[in-house]
Amino acid sequence: MDQWKRRTRAVHSGIRRSQYNEVSEAIFLTQGFVYDSAEQAEARFLEAGPDEFIYARYGNPTTSMFEQRMAALEGAEDAFATASGMAAVSGALMAMLRAGDHVVASRALFGSCLYVLEEVLRRYGVEVEFVDGTDLGQWRAAVRPGTKAVFFESVSNPTLEVIDIRAVAEIAHSVGALVLADNVFATPTFSRAIELGADVVIYSATKHVDGQGRALGGIVLGTRHFVRKVLEPYMKHTGGAMSPFTSWIMLKGLETMDLRVRAQAATALALAQALEGRLGRVIHPGLESHPQHALAMAQTGSGGTVLSFDVGSREAAFAFLNALRIVVISNNLGDAKSIATHPASTTHQRLPSEQKATLGITPGLIRLSCGLEDADDLLADVFGALEAAQAAHPARDAAE
Ligand SMILES: Cc1ncc(COP(=O)(O)O)c(C=O)c1O
Repeated sequence: MDQWKRRTRAVHSGIRRSQYNEVSEAIFLTQGFVYDSAEQAEARFLEAGPDEFIYARYGNPTTSMFEQRMAALEGAEDAFATASGMAAVSGALMAMLRAGDHVVASRALFGSCLYVLEEVLRRYGVEVEFVDGTDLGQWRAAVRPGTKAVFFESVSNPTLEVIDIRAVAEIAHSVGALVLADNVFATPTFSRAIELGADVVIYSATKHVDGQGRALGGIVLGTRHFVRKVLEPYMKHTGGAMSPFTSWIMLKGLETMDLRVRAQAATALALAQALEGRLGRVIHPGLESHPQHALAMAQTGSGGTVLSFDVGSREAAFAFLNALRIVVISNNLGDAKSIATHPASTTHQRLPSEQKATLGITPGLIRLSCGLEDADDLLADVFGALEAAQAAHPARDAAE
């Protein structure tokens, strides 16, 4: 199995078959498990073996298949699946930190990740310091002996800044800090995060793993020690487990993820290239104009499935969104359906204007997650909407 390539792992790894030897993974839609005797129940609560289950909040055979398949795919020792991506982010951080600890984080983060770091961790006495994640000097200056963790989105939401995982990991490890990478935008298809030095890799499985907009989910991957001794006790008692039905959806999602993500990434690059001559600010790590283009190519070999661009103003952005015919206005990403988002008024609405400005979340910024539609149809839809927006708001056109 160790010799299998990723696409094979995504289809077969982790499978455990029941006595019926089913082909497709079974859904063990049960909250609990019957013990043969009181003695067995007692023994299992003392120490459950890898194929022994107690209660679905602690673990479930379908969820376990998903965890093992993801671990095989990512090259991690173990994994714990969670109810959402944010349950994974907050669980990984809360499980390992305590009052007085010091954490360094990249400041370009998804609004909910920022909330966990800025509001929740600080409320519990954790010192959180933010840096420009693309500036290694700032990471070096911020870490200190005793820093417990560094946290970043390896490709940030929504401005697609790319973090140098190997370099940041070297800095973090020099002071003994763990490296936690939220790897959603990099995608499990292109990820090499563990090989590059990340200790803990986190995904919202809601995005590319499901990839069809059906279910919320998340996963934390890392060493067996981190997953079973640090994370699991916290997760199983606080209740953020993935449901068995969701685990089954995610397992089936993984079977097609590689094909989907590669097709979506090709469309995203084509769209970014087509828009580049047309708009002043088009962001996609696959474009040579992206400040970390070389790093993105070396790190993942792809610019990913999302691009962002500035249409000039909030009014033009709203007109653009309202003129789209195929791309839907929503806020997920990695879906088979292309999705356009206005981060300033939705996913990052909560942030004060100055913080949005620092993060490059301008009023005209659109985030576009490319789906599986025909690329020519998408291009026509986006260019049609752009023309409509620019006709309605010519004065603040960002094309020049
Ligand atoms: C970078 C990043 N991390 C975490 C999440 C949270 O995932 P979920 O919505 O599954 O909780 C998101 C969702 O957009 C995200 O973009």
